[in-house]
Amino acid sequence: MATSGKLGGENLAFLEVKNVSREVFSNSGKYLKIIDDIDFSVADGEFLSLIGPSGCGKTTLLRVISGLDNPEKGEVTLKGEKVGKPSVSRGYVFQHGSLYPWETIRQNISSGLQAVQGKNFDQKLVDHFIEIMGLQGFEDAYPNQVSGGMAQRAALARSLVLNPQLLLLDEPMGALDAFTRIDVQDIIYKIWQEKKTTMILVTHDIDEAIYLSQRILVMTPNPGRVKEIVNNDLPFPRKRDSSEFLNIRKKLQQILNFK
Ligand SMILES: Nc1ncnc2c1ncn2[C@@H]1O[C@H](COP(=O)(O)OP(=O)(O)OP(=O)(O)O)[C@@H](O)[C@H]1O
Ligand SMILES: [Mg+2]
Repeated sequence: MATSGKLGGENLAFLEVKNVSREVFSNSGKYLKIIDDIDFSVADGEFLSLIGPSGCGKTTLLRVISGLDNPEKGEVTLKGEKVGKPSVSRGYVFQHGSLYPWETIRQNISSGLQAVQGKNFDQKLVDHFIEIMGLQGFEDAYPNQVSGGMAQRAALARSLVLNPQLLLLDEPMGALDAFTRIDVQDIIYKIWQEKKTTMILVTHDIDEAIYLSQRILVMTPNPGRVKEIVNNDLPFPRKRDSSEFLNIRKKLQQILNFK
């Protein structure tokens, strides 16, 4: 297992996070460095996970990659172009509440697409995602009327209808029970296999990271830094109880200093 943050070859320039630091003034008026000198690349079509303890800056990093926030130092480039503001080409599924509560499931999935394509937006594409996310029969329900798993599948669909070049997922399974979590993991896996959308997933769940990703970036807190990037070359689909899977889990637990 190599631990390099930089990639070789032709994919080098897809996404580059170059020496990124994010610094803010906290409520108490103190200067606070949240993430420090984060430097890595992601290849076109790659699946990368970010793990690390709560508060180590995973969401902060994802927001900088999306362009929602700008770093005080360093820069992010996508296909060589500097990321400075959000774009529909970079989908973002938030840690909490990616859906509009005042829109139905169908409206939530289609409203972004309608904003881009206008009135005659591609309804068939919306139907397609309603089907693959198993949301038929719930199109007219509001987010508070569906299960957490359905709401997160709808949030994924809302991003995916826009066919993003890059999909940023901030703990989309975080609030789900173990069974539903595995269902949504499998949906993400299938979509990634089919579309090869480049994905960056933030998760607290080591097994989820091993199940889905080709590399796992481990962060440490205060300030958030990259501790190590672990390659995960296990063949897909992965078996959660294989000895190779357990070996990677052990390695990650050691890096995270779990006993
Ligand atoms: N705009 C801000 N002003 C002040 N502090 C901030 C700001 N944004 C983030 N922080 C702080 O920076 C740290 C990192 O926050 P962040 O949300 O990125 O962590 P995280 O790794 O995503 O945590 P979790 O796993 O709990 O979601 C936290 O201590 C947070 O309170
Ligand atoms: Mg977070």
